Amino acid sequence: MTNPTTTQTGTPVASDAHSLTAGPDGTTALHDRYLVEKLAQFNRERIPERIVHAKGGGAFGRFETTHDVSAYTRAALFQPGVTTETLMRFSSVAGEQGSPDTWRDVRGFSVKFYTTEGNYDIVGNNTPVFFIRDGIKFPDFIHSQKRLPGSGLRDADMQWDFWTLSPESAHQVTYLMGDRGLPKSWREMPGFGSHTYQWINAAGERFWVKYHFASRQGDLHLDAAEAEAIAGADADFYRRDLHDAIARGEFPQWDLSVQVMPYEDAKTYRFNPFDLTKVWPHADYPLIPVGTLTLDRNPQNFFAEIEQAAFSPANTVPGIAISPDKMLMARVFSYPDAQRYRVGTNYAQLPVNAPHAAPVHNYSQDGAQRHHFNAPTTPVYAPNSFGGPVADAQLAGEGSWESDGELVRAAATLHAEDDDFGQAGTLYREVYSADAKARFQATLLGQARAITIDEIRERFFQYWTNVDAELGAALRTAYAG
Ligand code: HEM
Repeated sequence: MTNPTTTQTGTPVASDAHSLTAGPDGTTALHDRYLVEKLAQFNRERIPERIVHAKGGGAFGRFETTHDVSAYTRAALFQPGVTTETLMRFSSVAGEQGSPDTWRDVRGFSVKFYTTEGNYDIVGNNTPVFFIRDGIKFPDFIHSQKRLPGSGLRDADMQWDFWTLSPESAHQVTYLMGDRGLPKSWREMPGFGSHTYQWINAAGERFWVKYHFASRQGDLHLDAAEAEAIAGADADFYRRDLHDAIARGEFPQWDLSVQVMPYEDAKTYRFNPFDLTKVWPHADYPLIPVGTLTLDRNPQNFFAEIEQAAFSPANTVPGIAISPDKMLMARVFSYPDAQRYRVGTNYAQLPVNAPHAAPVHNYSQDGAQRHHFNAPTTPVYAPNSFGGPVADAQLAGEGSWESDGELVRAAATLHAEDDDFGQAGTLYREVYSADAKARFQATLLGQARAITIDEIRERFFQYWTNVDAELGAALRTAYAG
């Protein structure tokens, strides 16, 4: 038997087809409360899309820690044999919610672990570095990738103006314009935490770590013509691929490894380890295996479970902390702020965001749409004499690092090999195959042709000459020809 249609408050309604009118052809009655409710609810279905990474998709699964990394972290989820429920969301950065999945872009790679010590989120990308190294530039960078204020169009001049005036972008732009900018699917790409994070073991010893997720499905790409054709034929290509694979019982998997740097090395390592535009060569810090992530369950409701999902680098657990990376420190503020605005003050109470395996006790209360609340006898202030939750003083120093000096606005300390173009040149020369180099050059030539301002195009050629002199010369020749 089908259910009777009701109002939002459970009262049966007379019709979903006809509104209440004065005679069949007369005016509509304002007291048709179901008509009014239906239209009003409809008008409120949308929430603001994410300011970045608006287009995406995701699924649920589990993470199993298969190796013993307890020498480096005491986090419960990374102890050998522990399995933790997870949620993942993949995304593009610059496009809006309906934008085609296969436009060239960096791809987001977000993992939420519902651990016994609260939720832990790794909010990373499919590249190990980023375009900038100070959060104060993030809104400018994103504006340059989105749309012109007048025409509402995306614009190569604006993108290359920003990039060529921000030479620290060269490493990430080398990834973006290479094969990594057009993954074959979300399943067939790697993921990186990108930043350096801090791990703390049971003895209180501190380490610097970088996360690497290697896809068991491979690291595959589309070529530019293929990606463009797909963008026209199926804007939801990646979202569909992930959903259909899981529905078929093909569960994608990633193996997580970490690079671990002893705490003291950070001072003298040849690259500043807190500079998000740099990688640590594996020869310096090899990959140490941790465990395997498996996605095996599609969301039942995309809006409730994926659109309202709130990932944040601020969500850390005991045994894991952030580092003095200026980007990361800015992100710790930015995400919960965005989510209070985008989803609502009490976004953390929604089932997809609430911890599954850890209780929540604190002194925050009320706010729009509060669902869970404390028992009436629970004190609403701290300190109190009535058995309210008590903070753990032993966590007071957790995740700290030494720093000194006056408040300044300055670049972080440069290390021996810190320069903006060195690692970009290494990626181009030593990692890209001959075929990959050819595709990369063809993409850059297309970009040069899309730039309409001579001065910016000249800076474009200089930028690539700084990455690799032969590359710069080849681009100039091809453009002139
Ligand atoms: C200071 C620099 C950055 C700022 C201020 C920033 C800010 C934001 C904001 C406000 C959101 C939307 C959050 C929401 O509404 O739920 C977001 C989403 C995202 N950001 Fe960043 N971001 C920064 C850098 C980065 C970096 C370096 C990465 C990767 C290494 C990254 C990866 C992501 C991902 C994957 C998402 C989508 C999360 C999801 O799937 O819901 N962001 N960012």
